[in-house]
Amino acid sequence: MEGILLGIVILLATLIFILGYLVIKEREKRRKLIEQIRRKERDRESKGFDKSKLLTRALSLIREGIVIMDPYGRIVFTNKLARELLDISPEDAGKFFYQAIKNFDVVSMINESFNKTYRVWQEKKIKDRYVQMIFGSDMDEKVLLLIDLTPMKKYENLKKDFIANVSHELKTPVAAMKLSLETIEEECKNNPRAIPFIRKALERVNYMEQLIEDLITLSQLESVDYKLSPVEIKLLPFVRNILKDLSDFIVQKNLKVEIKIPNNAEVRADEKMLHAILKNLIDNAIKYNRDGGKIEIAFKELKNEYEISVCDTGRGIPKSHLPFIFERFYRVERSRSRKLGGTGLGLSIVKLATDRMGGKVEVESEEGKGTCFRIYLPKG
Ligand SMILES: Nc1ncnc2c1ncn2[C@@H]1O[C@H](COP(=O)(O)OP(=O)(O)O)[C@@H](O)[C@H]1O
Ligand SMILES: [Mg+2]
Repeated sequence: MEGILLGIVILLATLIFILGYLVIKEREKRRKLIEQIRRKERDRESKGFDKSKLLTRALSLIREGIVIMDPYGRIVFTNKLARELLDISPEDAGKFFYQAIKNFDVVSMINESFNKTYRVWQEKKIKDRYVQMIFGSDMDEKVLLLIDLTPMKKYENLKKDFIANVSHELKTPVAAMKLSLETIEEECKNNPRAIPFIRKALERVNYMEQLIEDLITLSQLESVDYKLSPVEIKLLPFVRNILKDLSDFIVQKNLKVEIKIPNNAEVRADEKMLHAILKNLIDNAIKYNRDGGKIEIAFKELKNEYEISVCDTGRGIPKSHLPFIFERFYRVERSRSRKLGGTGLGLSIVKLATDRMGGKVEVESEEGKGTCFRIYLPKG
C-alpha cells in the first residue's frame, strides 16, 4: 500500500515538474517573441526617423521654397527660403496657412486654389524677388512651391536693355544712310546702271529701319517701366489716321477698305498699345492681300469686352503655321515677307500689347480666301 502511495506521489511530482517546465519554456518563448517584435519596431522607427531627417535636410538645401500643408491647411513643413519669403517663423508650424503666412496676396492665392489639384501663377514680386508659385494638392497634402526667378530675370532684363540700347544706337546712322541713299538716287536719275543697285540698297535700309522700329516698340511694350495709361479713344478717327499713314500701299494694291465702326464708338485703352496693335494688323491685311482685294475693319461692343476685327481677302495662312505666327521672327514665307518689308515681329507686338492690356487675340484663316484677326479688350 505504502509502495503504491509513493508511486503516485512520484508520478504527481514528475507531472508537476514537467508542467512547470513547459510553462516556463512557453513564457520564455513568448518573451523572446515580444523582444523580437519590439526590436523590429525600434529598428523601423529609427530608420524612419533617419529618412525624415534626411528628407528635411534635403528640402532645406534646395533652391526652391516649399510649404507643405495638411488637408486642412495647417503648416506641416516649410524650408528656409519659404520662411524667408513668406515671413513664416518656426513657431508657426501647426498653424493654419492664413495665420502663418504674412503676405496677404499669397494667402488669398492659396485660398482661391485650395481645392484645386494644380495651379500655376504668373510670376509675382515678393520682397524684391520675382517668384513663380505653383500649388499642388491631393487627398493628403497640399504643397506650395516657390521658384525664385530673380537671377533669370536679371539676365533677361540685361538682354532686353542691350537690345533696346543697340536699337537706339542704330537708329541715327540708319536714318543718315537712308537720307544719303535717297540723295544719291536723285543724283543718279540719269544713270540707269546705278539705279537698280541704289534701289536694292534703299530696300535693305528700309527693312533695317523697320526692324529697329519694331525692336524699339517691343522693348518699350515689355518694359516694366512702361505703365499703361488707359484713355477714352474715339475708334473711328483713330483707325482712319492709321489708314492714312498706310494709304500709299492701299492705293498701290488697289484695295477696298470697309469700315464698320459706329461714329460714336469709344474704347478705353492705352493709346500706344492700341495703335501698335491696329497698325500691325492693318499693315498685314494690306501686305498679304491680293491686288484689288478687300479689307474690313469692324467693332462690336460685347458684354464685358470690345471686339475689334481686321479681315482681309488675301491668300490666308496654312493651318500648320497658325500656332506659330505670334512668335518673334516667325514668317510663313520668309522671302516673300522680307520682300514686302516684313520683319516677323508685327504679330508678336500685337500679342504682347493685347496681353498687357488684359485682352486676347484670335485668328481665323482660310487658305485662298482670307484671314480675320480679332482682338478682345476688357472694358474699363
Ligand atoms: N493677314 C495675313 N494674311 C496672311 N498671312 C499673314 C497675315 N498676317 C500675318 N501673316 C503671316 O504671319 C507672318 C507673321 O506676321 P508678322 O509678325 O506681322 O510679320 P511680318 O513682318 O512678316 O508681317 C507673316 O510673315 C505672314 O506670313
Ligand atoms: Mg506684319
